[in-house]
Amino acid sequence: MANFETVEVKTDLLIVGGGMAACGAAAEAAHWAKKNNLKVTLVDKAAMDRSGAVAMGLSAINQYVGVKDGQNSVHDYVDYVRNDLMGITREDLVANIARHVDSTVHLFEKWGLPIWKDAEGNYVHEGRWQLMINGESYKVIVAEAAKNALGMDNIYERVFITEPLMDGNKCVGAVGFSVRENKFYVFKAKTTLVAMGGAVHVFKPRSSGEGLGRSWYPPFNSGASAYFTLKAGAEMTCQEVRFIPVRFKDAYGPVGAWFLLFKSRATNGLGENYMQTRRDELEKWKPYGLVKPVPANLRNWLMMLDVMEGKGPIFMRTEEAIENLSKGVPDEKERKKKLKELESEAWEDFLDMTISQAILWAATNTAPEEKPSEIAACEPYFIGSHSGASGAWVSGPEDIAPKDYFWGYPCMCTVESLFAAGDASGASSHKFSSGSVTEGRIAAKAAIAYCVDHPGENKYDNAAIEELKKRILLPLDLYEEHKAASSDPDVNPNYIKPKMFMFRLQKIMDEYAGGVSTQFTTSKHLLKKGLELLAFLKEDAEKLAAQDLHELMRCWENIHRMWQAEAHVRTILFREETRWPGYYFRADCPEMKDDWKVFANCRWDPASGEWGMMKREIIGIY
Ligand code: FAD
Ligand code: ADX
Repeated sequence: MANFETVEVKTDLLIVGGGMAACGAAAEAAHWAKKNNLKVTLVDKAAMDRSGAVAMGLSAINQYVGVKDGQNSVHDYVDYVRNDLMGITREDLVANIARHVDSTVHLFEKWGLPIWKDAEGNYVHEGRWQLMINGESYKVIVAEAAKNALGMDNIYERVFITEPLMDGNKCVGAVGFSVRENKFYVFKAKTTLVAMGGAVHVFKPRSSGEGLGRSWYPPFNSGASAYFTLKAGAEMTCQEVRFIPVRFKDAYGPVGAWFLLFKSRATNGLGENYMQTRRDELEKWKPYGLVKPVPANLRNWLMMLDVMEGKGPIFMRTEEAIENLSKGVPDEKERKKKLKELESEAWEDFLDMTISQAILWAATNTAPEEKPSEIAACEPYFIGSHSGASGAWVSGPEDIAPKDYFWGYPCMCTVESLFAAGDASGASSHKFSSGSVTEGRIAAKAAIAYCVDHPGENKYDNAAIEELKKRILLPLDLYEEHKAASSDPDVNPNYIKPKMFMFRLQKIMDEYAGGVSTQFTTSKHLLKKGLELLAFLKEDAEKLAAQDLHELMRCWENIHRMWQAEAHVRTILFREETRWPGYYFRADCPEMKDDWKVFANCRWDPASGEWGMMKREIIGIY
């Protein structure tokens, strides 16, 4: 076996992940842990300053309710989220985040995040819920607060978390390995909070060849949260609710600022606005088709119908939007100044959060005030904190959660002492960056309360940990054992390299589970065939081989993705209707059905290795 030192870390609360939810959790947990003399440890596969979805920075805070300012109520936000998700949402979870999110935004400002202000000193809104920021360093600022709260001695960076440590139905920590040194980590914890983000590259991406790896969702998040919670035996929810964002084509730049702040339109190749020409289609999806704003998946759908009829390309009419905003200024000198301002805001939007889009504009001589830019639907992603909803099924808060949705501690999974937040927790979409930090704070406070209530020592099976270590390092051994069998290290009859494995997974998902090349369309027959092929892939996962530590990480990233994929396929198959046509279309049941207005949940049983599917009732609080 590969020669790896085992490093054991004992702690009370273990936070796995170092992104927005984890940083919020760290800042909050430190406070409550100090009061109770408890230890908090955080572990991230990358460096917290630039890890996760906010690595590149963001140009807006997408959830600010403005309750105190009298702008909106928590109820308004819940209505917005429920409508956007076509009725499938945990109102208690959404409301719990919404009632605390403003305080998180105020903390960001205290920590040094520049939020745009108008002449009166009020926040500048992008849209009803969104605030504009100078956010290139957003993640650095939030990570600094988390680091200051915990101290670097309690933070492990560049340690890839692979598996949960279990004692029956209780999570007692996690194991992983350093991606820089030959070290295997065993974190023994009273309670564990999962915040390892969502998943990308489960589906074949549009970007290929020289663009491979480019995607909207950050390539660093590869389904670790879903894998961890599934392997722990936790019940999962909304595994079918993937997210397909519409983005500036090829470099994946954001569209929110254009649609909401600049009031831009998108038109097809014929110059038609599909939101108008296809308005009648929305009737089919009522009541949600008729709400304002039109749900994200239905906005996608109207555009996709145009694309399927060969009416592309679809353009964001940047030149028209800038012209419209500047033409109201009567004085020519002032108008020119306004134009310059708009132009620089347009570039900053990309430079703050999607630098590659600014580079693409520069490379293609695109002046947004002169020519429109193409937009397109991306490949599917798993991001429960945005406009998707996949994640673990967690407890709501005692004061507002319906009885069936409360089991002791907010954000606790159905597995004892395991908590989840951000992308890791499901059925509470539209948390975004601020809501994810907020949910991390809520979960951390609850997790510390759990530690205080359960002071006893956990049991560990050292032989089982040794077995896990062997299994996790196996790809390195397989490579060493068989590398001489061929002259090209990537092609060998005895093993499969992670990149090839990933291509195979992506091909299955693309062709059978409704990816880009099948125009997001699937059916019972396709899904069943896809499951059959996934079973073969799972067998071959035992033969993954790694040449070095980096490839070892790639092996495990792809095993995590594969589990996310299976949960997804099983749940789309289970839900016999089409509810989010702009996310995926079930060709064999093309309509929304009343008897499917339920959560579709699933659970992998660690004892039997079998999957179970179940419906859960939707119980609103308003
Ligand atoms: P992340 O912040 O992504 O953190 C995940 C963490 O898990 C990372 O630290 C990662 O390194 C770690 N991790 C992953 N796997 C492992 C592993 N195996 N072991 C250890 N650690 C691991 N929100 C807004 O408010 N405004 C916006 O403008 C906005 N724009 C966005 C643009 C893009 C391109 C994307 C993808 C998202 C955007 N969002 C925006 C949403 C926001 O970024 C997310 O809601 C938020 O980051 C989710 O927080 P999280 O903690 O769940 O995940
Ligand atoms: S981001 O994640 O990359 O920032 P994006 O820029 O598309 O997403 O959107 C930012 C916010 O604006 C999100 O809250 C999104 O739901 C909202 N949004 C984007 N486009 C529209 C639109 N046409 N109508 C209503 N809301 C929109």
